[in-house]
Amino acid sequence: MFENVQTAPADPILGLTELFKADPNPDKINLSVGVYQDATGKTPVLKTVKEAEKRILEQENSKGYLPMTGEPVYCAQVQELLFGEGHEIITSKRAATAQCPGGTGALRVAGDYLVKLHPGAKIWLSNPTWANHNTIFEAAGLTCEKYSYRDPQTNGLDFTAMCESIKTIPSGDIILLHGCCHNPTGIDPTPEQWAQLGDLLAERGILPLVDFAYQGLADGVEEDRAGLLELTKKVKQMLICSSFSKNFGLYRERTGALTVVADNPDQAGTVMSQVKLRIRYNYSNPPSHGGQIVAVVLSDKQLRAQWLEEVADIRNRINEMRHLFVKTLKEKGVTQDFSSIIEQRGMFSFSGLTKEQVDRLREEYSIYIVGSGRINVAGMTPSNMDRLCEAIKAVL
Ligand code: LMR
Repeated sequence: MFENVQTAPADPILGLTELFKADPNPDKINLSVGVYQDATGKTPVLKTVKEAEKRILEQENSKGYLPMTGEPVYCAQVQELLFGEGHEIITSKRAATAQCPGGTGALRVAGDYLVKLHPGAKIWLSNPTWANHNTIFEAAGLTCEKYSYRDPQTNGLDFTAMCESIKTIPSGDIILLHGCCHNPTGIDPTPEQWAQLGDLLAERGILPLVDFAYQGLADGVEEDRAGLLELTKKVKQMLICSSFSKNFGLYRERTGALTVVADNPDQAGTVMSQVKLRIRYNYSNPPSHGGQIVAVVLSDKQLRAQWLEEVADIRNRINEMRHLFVKTLKEKGVTQDFSSIIEQRGMFSFSGLTKEQVDRLREEYSIYIVGSGRINVAGMTPSNMDRLCEAIKAVL
């Protein structure tokens, strides 16, 4: 059976991690996959996570299955983080949440739900978007379309073009919006623009699916929900796929969630019953460990405050690297304008480097960047900055 099977193409992001690991160059730099590294180049386990794990080790008394929708305490914490304590969506019970294996798992469950319950609806993705969005939704059987997003002239948001393309989306289709820290560009709409987007979506009857994987990495955990909250003022129904990979550093624990926001509690429950069917045939019920960590940290006032500080450290270090990168390139005499990188938020920026330049950086300098030119700023450190900027200058 296997003689004629062809090797699959490498994943555009995770495939680079495999190449990076195999590279013997001691000075290699990984700016590909969106994983945070501290100033020493390590991906640390947060102190609050370690503390929660100690408590879990002592207190956990069963390894029985979780419900299909996961741990209820965790799901409640997810909603509180998304909307804020006491938000109307929570008090009126208009939302239902399922714990999912990472943001990716949540997106796949959402895709399976959409393709079955809203047949014929297409999903519209920003141009560009995370390389895995197309793959996930196409695997689920959805047709993907593109809406305008980035202005290549300014390396900022082309909001007019974005609105114009949204006006062409048929009613009943779905639009995927990045809650904050747009992946791959780092370019986000302002809260005012979010409000306008909300008006447009409500007017046209388009269902938003918000991919919210970087809460806390732009301006703060509370601040970063501003766009989502603007949207909820205008649109009553939506799906939200969220993740704790980045803001808790729980990458390998696959800790995410799918939240349904509906008109009323009954409707939320009905939609969630359909989501549960999709969960059952995909993975039955979610892994527990990451969700327990999040629930322990967020339920404890002191641990929660400490976690907020840890997220601030991550955010501040990334922003420092944005400034240092632009400054170092200038000092090295690079004339190409990279200053828009300072304005961008989260882990990523679009560097404007071409595929050929990215290939040369990898082959000649062991510097790994995604083929689109997306840079993981969180992989820059004060000690690799010089070498990185010298190499970029050489390939430009
Ligand atoms: C990324 O975009 O690099 C991250 O979200 C990790 C991934 O799974 O691609």
